[in-house]
Amino acid sequence: MPAIELSGRRIIVAVTGGIAAYKACELVSTLVKSGAQVRVVMTESARRFVSEMTFATLSGHEVAWDMWAPRTNVEHISLAEFAEVCVIAPATANVIAKCAHGIADDLLSTCLLALTCPVVIAPAMNTRMLCSAPVQANLATLRERGVHVVEPEEGRLACGETGAGRLPATEVLVEAVRDALRSRRGAMSGMRILITAGPTREAIDPVRFLSNPSSGRMGYELAAEAQRRGADVTLVSGPTSLPRPEGVAVVAVQSAEQMHEAVQERAGVVDLFIGAAAVADWRPAEAATEKMKKGDREEMTLRMVRTPDIIASVAQWQPRPTIVGFAAETNETIAHAREKLQRKGMDMIVANDVSEPGAGFEVETNRVTLIDVIGRETDLPLMSKAEVAAAILDRAGALIASRESQ
Ligand SMILES: Cc1cc2nc3c(=O)[nH]c(=O)nc-3n(C[C@H](O)[C@H](O)[C@H](O)COP(=O)(O)O)c2cc1C
Repeated sequence: MPAIELSGRRIIVAVTGGIAAYKACELVSTLVKSGAQVRVVMTESARRFVSEMTFATLSGHEVAWDMWAPRTNVEHISLAEFAEVCVIAPATANVIAKCAHGIADDLLSTCLLALTCPVVIAPAMNTRMLCSAPVQANLATLRERGVHVVEPEEGRLACGETGAGRLPATEVLVEAVRDALRSRRGAMSGMRILITAGPTREAIDPVRFLSNPSSGRMGYELAAEAQRRGADVTLVSGPTSLPRPEGVAVVAVQSAEQMHEAVQERAGVVDLFIGAAAVADWRPAEAATEKMKKGDREEMTLRMVRTPDIIASVAQWQPRPTIVGFAAETNETIAHAREKLQRKGMDMIVANDVSEPGAGFEVETNRVTLIDVIGRETDLPLMSKAEVAAAILDRAGALIASRESQ
């Protein structure tokens, strides 16, 4: 089985009010040293055991615990959207009960309810508490829902008794995080995903074309990540210099019209369509069949005609797939993206300001905002395109699940 890389992974460590809270410091430190991006969320009780200052220093980020702290974003939701995996360590009997019953009365429990990523729970408590009927019933409920429960270890407990209830060693917790991430790998198993990527080339004559600087990297990262998650992926790609992602069916095209045709051929057999290509809006009305000679002309005029709108045509398919598009803008990014989302009938749009350093064409990184059809708007920090791809697929997976449950 391939090792799961923790570097760049977005992990929430949720710390609750048990005596083992101090052990979560080593967990945070180990995850950060592995290159993970860690955010710590604490309960009020946990703050009585370990200072939030310790976790803030170890994670390099402010600790979230206060539901009512004045801020501009809704923290429990933005944290839930940030996370690729959440590990609750130690998990008190109280938080286990809250998770099992959907109680949301503080920042941590509210955030847990909003998570769509895998959750690892590491219970730690006195043996009799652990063996009590309510705790066992709650853990059984959580296991049934797919929560990864890490078995507490036996040994001498802080209360002086001996028995099961100790928080396992950090390595065991880290392995459970890896297992949870691995489980997410198969999360798109059986799903048929069609992705467009790269620029298009609109011929002027046999040796000249109009194009744009798209590298195709964002679409290729999406295809590779969707394939890793078990999806059946087809990538319709304009000309790029990128290697073909392993296990992905690639259809190479040149022009917007060819891309449109290749996409249309798959009408009705796609669950998720992601339009990441930078498709030309216009093409020369006629491409000369022979190389155009300069002659002694001082000017020349190209008559341009519209190219097909690929996303709008996918939105007409029956059954219609979940549709994700991109808006690469240079001004009023969010307003333009919102308008495009509505006009083209998409479920989500990934907006980025391509004039910003580190975002957009020809770079390895991107800073995007995800806007979905129900009006949720999430600003993601500057991340590698692979990380952005994972975040887009997390949200797209959640949108597909919510469409299926309607
Ligand atoms: C000294 C001390 C140690 C505690 N250790 C644990 C523990 O290991 N596990 C547990 O479930 N509760 C433990 N508790 C009880 C919790 O702190 C209590 O149930 C609290 O309400 C949990 O809040 P939280 O789940 O919001 O963090 C302990 C309480 C005290 C005073």
